[in-house]
Amino acid sequence: MKTYLRKHLQKHAIYQSARQEFSENGNDLILLDANENPFDWPYNRYPDPLQLKLRKAISAWRNVPPSQIYLGNGSDEIINQLVLGFCEPKEEKILICPPTFGMYKVAAELFQVPLYQVPLTPQFQLDVPTILQSIKSDMKLFFLPTPNNPTGNRFKTEDIQKIAAAFPGIVVVDEAYAEFSPEASALSWQSEYPNIVVLQTFSKAQGMAGARLGMAFGSENIIDGLLKVKAPYNLNSLTLEAALDQVENQQGRVREMVALLTKERKRVINALESLPYVESIFPSDANFFMLRVDDSRLRYNQLIENNIVVRQASHYLGCENCLRISVGAPSENDKLLQVMNNLK
Ligand SMILES: Cc1ncc(COP(=O)(O)O)c(C=O)c1O
Repeated sequence: MKTYLRKHLQKHAIYQSARQEFSENGNDLILLDANENPFDWPYNRYPDPLQLKLRKAISAWRNVPPSQIYLGNGSDEIINQLVLGFCEPKEEKILICPPTFGMYKVAAELFQVPLYQVPLTPQFQLDVPTILQSIKSDMKLFFLPTPNNPTGNRFKTEDIQKIAAAFPGIVVVDEAYAEFSPEASALSWQSEYPNIVVLQTFSKAQGMAGARLGMAFGSENIIDGLLKVKAPYNLNSLTLEAALDQVENQQGRVREMVALLTKERKRVINALESLPYVESIFPSDANFFMLRVDDSRLRYNQLIENNIVVRQASHYLGCENCLRISVGAPSENDKLLQVMNNLK
């Protein structure tokens, strides 16, 4: 099996807390190993460093063995861990396709890993021939969000598969918005492409951005690599409890919210399409959409004057005069439409 891990980490021993060895033994232990406050107090104990209960619940939910699941403090943390664990600074490269999610570049800069960029086509699809020509043996990570942020569209499954088959490193398919998209998750074809890592998050459809929880699904050797660079207690007890309840008891409600937001996305886009200052609205499979207007700075400021905050997207490659707007609750969308209808 191919090892992607950085050389010096291959012999690196994972930090073991004493309790880790006993974490499946139940609750009858006298815990004198971690210098905690022993009195009965809500969160006096460190959380389970292996996150066994939650990983087991996620395993049943996503149909992936626990040994192929890594949990992080948001996908943002996992993105950093991937770069830290797998890319030799100043030597190996990361590939991205702008316009793309900004944190990939931030992580590359943070860990001094050079970035190679192949822009998306004018329709914001993957430029597969150029990507295939640009692939080099020193490329270690390819970050690919689908649906894409900031544009909102999905990439074609066959394009991602073609690239994964040719890429020498790990292809990170970042599915932060997957619940809003009709296409099957890359999880269903991951076994054919063992160099694919799928990222999903509790921050978007799951409605738990404040809890900070991201998931990585990948082959065991990649997940073991991430465990080598994991902080022992990277997820806190409150998040572990809330996420367990979310996975086991709240998915019916999440499906209802996703259905409503998808309906609202259609309603808002339909209503905005005919406005004279809206030049185009790009197709979206996410809970946001990007639109091009006559003057994005003017429209952005006018919305702020009406207490509506949207995201400027004009600084992204190929997104001049674009704004990115999240789909809100129906009453928020009503207000957005009312304000945008009246802009001069
Ligand atoms: C494509 C993509 N990946 C990851 C994230 C970050 O997710 P998390 O909140 O889990 O760190 C975002 C958030 O905007 C995103 O758009």
